[in-house]
Amino acid sequence: MQTAIFSDYTILSEYTANEMIKLIEQNPTALLCIASGDSPKMACELFCQKVKEQNIDTSRFFFVGLDEWVGLSSETFGSCHNDFQKRLIQPLGLSTSQYHLFNALSDDLQNECEIMDAIIKEKGGIDLMIVGIGMNGHIGFNEPGVDFNLLSHVINLDETTVTVGKKYFRQEVKLEKGITLGLVHLLNSKKVLLLANGERKAAVIKKAVDGEITNLFPASIMQRHENGLIVIDNKAASLLTKS
Ligand code: F6R
Repeated sequence: MQTAIFSDYTILSEYTANEMIKLIEQNPTALLCIASGDSPKMACELFCQKVKEQNIDTSRFFFVGLDEWVGLSSETFGSCHNDFQKRLIQPLGLSTSQYHLFNALSDDLQNECEIMDAIIKEKGGIDLMIVGIGMNGHIGFNEPGVDFNLLSHVINLDETTVTVGKKYFRQEVKLEKGITLGLVHLLNSKKVLLLANGERKAAVIKKAVDGEITNLFPASIMQRHENGLIVIDNKAASLLTKS
């Protein structure tokens, strides 16, 4: 794992968008996995902008969403699906054959997990995974205490995830469970970028980068990824030991 520190969120997002462009130019049929949430928002916007400006062919890549709140639909403002629609699917005009998102309304969520795992396998694995980090160290909905050896699964949400997660919604929503790719998917991805910005992420970045590798702080698993990159701004990096 390595760390890349940028002056601010815009520059960090610019770097990430360029990585996405590079991937699709080098491998037009690449499989990309992206988190929802605030951290990758600008990177997605810049990516769509660059695709248009540079006339990049995005007709063959495939993307999978990292996770979803169980019980929420694509129509719910703040759901991951709703974000992906606005950030990638609509701006790029992606056809439904070009992405797969968990159906968190399904009455067979185990089957949803199996479908996701089968798609990732069939596509030859994830080429680039772009994730954020929660205030409890979660990645996706791999909550503190999660088994590191899981593929896609359904999990009870940690208290911090439920409290912090309210920021995404305009209306009252019941947040109890999440459906998510597992950390086996992260370790198997060819490249992983973990994005974080702002002072409030400094303590979790410190733990992820310098702390013990433990399932009680899932993002510490990044230390095990040879091609993992912590992509942060100066503020999020402020507690890291300077070399
Ligand atoms: C969202 C997700 C979460 C977020 C994390 C950070 O799809 O997977 O793990 O990445 O909670 O959220 P933000 O980026 O909003 O600070």
